[in-house]
Amino acid sequence: MRIQIAPSILSADLVNLERDIEAVSDADWLHVDVMDGHFVPNLTLGLPTVKRIVKVSKIPVDVHLMIDDPDRWAPMYVEAGAASVTFHLEAALAPIRLAREIRRLGARVGVALRPATPVESIFEYLPEFDMVVVMTVEPGFGGQPLLETILEKIRALRKAINSVDGEIWIAADGGVTTDNIVEVIDAGADVLVVGTAIFGKDNPGVEVATLRQRAKGTPYG
Ligand code: DX5
Ligand code: ZN
Repeated sequence: MRIQIAPSILSADLVNLERDIEAVSDADWLHVDVMDGHFVPNLTLGLPTVKRIVKVSKIPVDVHLMIDDPDRWAPMYVEAGAASVTFHLEAALAPIRLAREIRRLGARVGVALRPATPVESIFEYLPEFDMVVVMTVEPGFGGQPLLETILEKIRALRKAINSVDGEIWIAADGGVTTDNIVEVIDAGADVLVVGTAIFGKDNPGVEVATLRQRAKGTPYG
């Protein structure tokens, strides 16, 4: 699969969000982190804001729910217009039922795993998902360094995905930069979620282009 870049607006200027969204419109996905202050110790934005983001964004919106009770809330994010909705395995009561519901409503479905959750826990259910989001930092905050040990999880997941039918994407979320993107792609990730390394710079659009350029240097770019 071609490498895809998903800028995370967690590190954008939330008061100038439309400007920042426009700046990264050459990327593949706009990654929107929804946090509830319970599942993670941080609070971001919710349904009404996501609805507006979907209207303003020229690229599809990828919602990452870091919330309790995704069984109840995730379908509403599909209805809000998200093209992809990811929930955490650790938070879902009935992950398979929820994954099927998200697909039935017409979005791609992703399942996210905290760093301490073994990837093996989803091996038997891989075809239920379109994407596995491997957290390469503890979820909750942008700007943390990538946990190198997680690359081994990505490698194991890549092997498992290669042995099942269908195309399932692997996203690496957290701590991805222009310096380590090649290493993360080499481990097997094909979607790179990048916050600080894009929005923490003067020109987010240029950073997207640079990340893409680095990815092109790999056999998968
Ligand atoms: C962390 C979020 C990430 C975060 C990535 O909980 O899920 O999407 O914004 O930001 P950086 O690239 O700064 O680690
Ligand atoms: Zn995220």
